[in-house]
Amino acid sequence: MKKSIIFLVMILLPSFLTAQDKNSLLIKPGEIWSDTDGKNINAHGGGILMYKGTYYWFGESRLPRSEKDRTHYGVGCYSSKDLINWKNEGLALQVINDTSSLLQPGCVIERPKVIFNKKTGKFVMWFHHELKGQGYRAAMTGVAVSDRVTGPYRYLKSLRPDAGAWPQNFPDEYRKLTVSEKDLKSWTEEWKKAVREGLFVRRDMAGGQMARDMTLFVDNDGKAYHIHSSEENMTLHFSELTDDYLDFTGRYYRVLPGESNEAPALFFAKGKYYMFTSGTTGWKPNPGRLAVADKLTGVWTPLGNPCRGTEEENKITFGSQSTFVLQMPDNENRFIYMGDRWIPADLTNSPHIWLPVEWENKTPVIRWYFSWDLNEPVVPDNTLTDKEKKEGWKLLFDGSTPQMWMNAKAKTFPASGWAINEGTLTVDPATKAAGGGGDIVTRDKFGNFELIVDFNYTTGANSGIKYFVDTEAEKGALASIGCEYQILDDRMNPDAQAGISGNHKLASLYDLIPPVNVKDNGAGIWNRARIIVNGPHIQHWLNGQLTVDCERSTPAWRELVSKSKFKDFKGFGEAPDGRLLLQDHGGEVSFRNLKIREF
Ligand code: GAL
Repeated sequence: MKKSIIFLVMILLPSFLTAQDKNSLLIKPGEIWSDTDGKNINAHGGGILMYKGTYYWFGESRLPRSEKDRTHYGVGCYSSKDLINWKNEGLALQVINDTSSLLQPGCVIERPKVIFNKKTGKFVMWFHHELKGQGYRAAMTGVAVSDRVTGPYRYLKSLRPDAGAWPQNFPDEYRKLTVSEKDLKSWTEEWKKAVREGLFVRRDMAGGQMARDMTLFVDNDGKAYHIHSSEENMTLHFSELTDDYLDFTGRYYRVLPGESNEAPALFFAKGKYYMFTSGTTGWKPNPGRLAVADKLTGVWTPLGNPCRGTEEENKITFGSQSTFVLQMPDNENRFIYMGDRWIPADLTNSPHIWLPVEWENKTPVIRWYFSWDLNEPVVPDNTLTDKEKKEGWKLLFDGSTPQMWMNAKAKTFPASGWAINEGTLTVDPATKAAGGGGDIVTRDKFGNFELIVDFNYTTGANSGIKYFVDTEAEKGALASIGCEYQILDDRMNPDAQAGISGNHKLASLYDLIPPVNVKDNGAGIWNRARIIVNGPHIQHWLNGQLTVDCERSTPAWRELVSKSKFKDFKGFGEAPDGRLLLQDHGGEVSFRNLKIREF
């Protein structure tokens, strides 16, 4: 008997584990990402090194603002076999508690990267280093080394690169120019021209070139480059490192002079070098940029914004700033864009934005995914992955036809006021002709379910997702009544202030329960609603955060209903099933990726 149980466990265990592993390979950009101890991964502006089958993620280990003791600050290191489950390996580099050290507590360490030197067998870390009490004036880079990948790394020095050397691609005539900063007013055309012609290169010749946002890149021939924003962040410098990667050779190249690039993240694919960068707006996100080159040291050609989202999303790179591009070891053409969604007041908890790099011919692009599976190819909007199909998910919208929806009263899809365009289902009351528009409902009814709806509201808009809708109620007079997941531009629509304790706000259970933990992406940007109904239990989620969690059909529920607009509606919200509804309520709102699974 015992033997057969053990045997059964042995057969079942591997498949159970694989199922578990498979389930956990979801990347959820922007959501809280916990390490194996359940704490937020504190590795920002970071990069990843793959060594002997394990990934090591290095990044800024930011202290909470309230923390007075600055000694536990430095470069965090996490390890993982699958890129999802990360173990905290502690600080790989820690500030040195000695006021004679440049690396003393109170200094700033940003964008650390680690590379492995095959010749010396050592791990080399470089990082943007600003000195205590000097803001961002020092503009230095620091270097540290270790025999073990996880550290501790031994701090060697900080410096400004390439002192005394001219860039390799610097025309002779620029060397002789004498114009200096005091002759020009910043940001005038003359000043910009002078910057392009090496104003700051000449200024910083003796002491070394400025080095702020940085990354490292090992070229196909093993030569490593330190790539940094230089010249007051106006121009990138690609500085060659010595064979041991511990110093600069003095050979360096100016890239995209005068174009203000930060946050460089490079990769080599399909025979070319690609680089994501950002503009220079501090912690605030700006439109992403992409450039391409045949040779690492240039010439680099800008390819525009790699984001393929809404106008608002492209303006802020999906709320991120690039930091690294990871090449997947199993497929040389698969890459992950890594970025930071900075929270200046709480850098420790800045979310990580990882998105798959996709290709439009030879151009890498990024699209937004609320979640995507490392093991599965990403699928276009309004489609299901094989895994989702197996899990019982069904689409409520195929991206091009309205067949699952009808007007709540007329039982046909509205001829105007609703439109299907480029994979979105949009309500736009401005386009409504007489007899058009109105709320739309599903042709099917649903009882216990999990529903996902991506929505994108315009400024000031109001809409909602209702459930348990009975289109026959009072012979159709109450065809649109149901529990509602509120969609509202809380900032611009006055209804956000109405109701009781905020129970009209985005992601609330409208007029009944105010939402908590609301992380609204804002107008013009996709948000994801998730509604779970299981018997009496109801949950609303917004962008991965639980906003409403309640039980219906209880005395407390009935009490809430009695104080709401629904007080005269008998048994409000207590039906075993009903239709789903998308509301036409003034203001343009788009929907896509409408998916449901029933329990
Ligand atoms: C950003 C930069 C960050 C950090 C920040 C400080 O532009 O990319 O790494 O330096 O500015 O404001």
